[in-house]
Amino acid sequence: MILVTGGAGYIGSHIVRQLCREDEEVLVLDNLSKGHRKAVDKKAKLIVGDFGDENLLTEIFQKHDIKAVIHMAA
Ligand SMILES: NC(=O)c1ccc[n+]([C@@H]2O[C@H](COP(=O)([O-])OP(=O)(O)OC[C@H]3O[C@@H](n4cnc5c(N)ncnc54)[C@H](O)[C@@H]3O)[C@@H](O)[C@H]2O)c1
Repeated sequence: MILVTGGAGYIGSHIVRQLCREDEEVLVLDNLSKGHRKAVDKKAKLIVGDFGDENLLTEIFQKHDIKAVIHMAA
């Protein structure tokens, strides 16, 4: 599974779409401060939260087998 932070944003949502096209499993972490829920490809799983939330990140990495992180939340 690939974690894309900011995956509901401009650049991130295009990356997510491309990864989904390539049949990758994608998890999006976005606090929706600038992004849009609708921009996230339906095949991806969206978690609404902040990448600065250490507890949330720990939970994400415990629950999912993350093989790569693409950090577009900024
Ligand atoms: N848009 C461009 O042309 C361009 C060009 C070069 C580099 N960049 C860089 O790419 C990155 C993304 O740019 P973009 O245009 O997609 O911006 P964007 O604002 O559309 O996307 C950023 C996403 O990150 C989310 N986000 C912000 N802070 C967050 C946090 N603390 N936790 C979780 N999610 C958070 C926002 O809700 C948003 O969906 C930025 O670092 C930008 O500087 C963009």
